[in-house]
Order: sequence, then structure tokens, then C-alpha cells
Amino acid sequence: PGFAVEVADEIDSTNSELMRRARAGDTAPVLLAALSQTAGRGRLGRSWASAPGDSLTFSLGLPLAPRDWSGLSLVVGLSLAESLHPRIRLKWPNDLWLDGRKLAGILIETASFPPQSARYAVVGIGINLRRPDADGLSTPPAGLEELLPGLTAAAALARVAPPLVASVKAFESAGFEPFRPAFEARDALRGLRLRLSDGTEGTGAGVSQDGGLLVHTATGPACITSSEVSVRPA
Ligand code: BTN
Repeated sequence: PGFAVEVADEIDSTNSELMRRARAGDTAPVLLAALSQTAGRGRLGRSWASAPGDSLTFSLGLPLAPRDWSGLSLVVGLSLAESLHPRIRLKWPNDLWLDGRKLAGILIETASFPPQSARYAVVGIGINLRRPDADGLSTPPAGLEELLPGLTAAAALARVAPPLVASVKAFESAGFEPFRPAFEARDALRGLRLRLSDGTEGTGAGVSQDGGLLVHTATGPACITSSEVSVRPA
């Protein structure tokens, strides 16, 4: 409720646009989708490139005040997976996987605005519709067409957006804990041998009540809150 929906033919990045608006004082709730992005951004300074029609790219911008932000990307991924397909798994903390291949990514950014404690959240989502070229990627990506042939970007957006808005609102009031069982049911990393960017190695063991990644290591259990995770080949 109360969301403006905008579709841009071409824009640099839907995340960049909503961050610019927030910094300029426009913090109204909005969903901005783009048919094409000229400078789509991924996490860790990576780019998100896609030909028009090959992916669904949009951002949700809204004022948000959860007590703890850490589980937001998990809740967003879970909502997308649930509204798209039972076979989609979640790779902590930001990716959707199909059979171990990346299907979608999430980039969350926030801007503060007065009064002091309020923050504007920009939740950016890119979902591959067609399977992208694997050139230069260590693992080949997946496309939603493998699960839902013929689904257009517009139809995919209409399907994911209403539950997504509801999930983000529920997260704001209740936090991550209520989502934890459903996340764990789709946890792609459970039982896999993992290597974290801080050097930790161990086996995926679910997520904590605030959305940290639980890992069994040789020296005992660890809870990871911010690190990159890669799966070690078996
Ligand atoms: C990642 O996998 O690293 C996150 C990718 C996020 C891409 C989406 S596309 C819509 C929104 N606008 C951007 O510039 N990035 C996000």
C-alpha cells in the first residue's frame, strides 16, 4: 500500500537513482523498475550487466526502522524464492541459486535522513530471466526461463513485488526470527564445505536467529555476520 510504481526505459542504475532521490530529500516509498541499466551495480563494487529483456531489474525504496538490519537481505531473498519456485535455494546472505548456480542477486543500500534515526532503504534486485553468458565467471549462472519458460520481466515483477513489500514490512516489525525456519528450508549452504573470506573453513550449519551464518569449524561453532562465502569443491 502507498507504493508508487515507476518503470524507466533506461537508467544508469535503479539503486543509484533511488539513493540520489533519498539524499535530495525524496524518501517516499517507491518501486522503480528499469527495462535497461547502463551502470547496474552488484555487491563489492562489481557490476550487474544485462541486455534489455534478459533480466528483471528493480529497486524498492522505503523508510525503514528495524531494530537490527542484518537479516533484511535474507528476508528479501526468501520472499523472492517463495513467490517464484520451490526449487530455488538461498545462498547466504544475498543470492538466489538454482542447482548451485546464481539466479538472482540483491544489493541493499541505506541513506540516513532527518529525523536522526530514520533510514531510507534501497533494496535492489536483479533476476536473470535468460541464462547469461558464462564468460569470465567461475560458475555458470542460471536463468528463470529454466523454471518458468516464457515469463516476461513484467509478469515476474507483478508476481514478486506484492509479497516482497509485505515481507519487508513484516521484517521491520518482527525481525528475522519468524522467517528463520523458511530460510533454513531453502538454505543452499547447509552441509557444504565452506571457505569464508576471513579464512575460516567449516561446514554450513544453518542461520542464527538474527540471520548470521552458522558454521561448524575444526575449533567449534562460529556465527558469521559479514564475510564472503565460497563453497569448496568436494
Ligand atoms: C549482486 O549480485 O551482487 C547484486 C546484484 C544487484 C543488481 C540489481 S539490478 C537492480 C538494482 N540496481 C542496481 O544497480 N543493482 C541492483
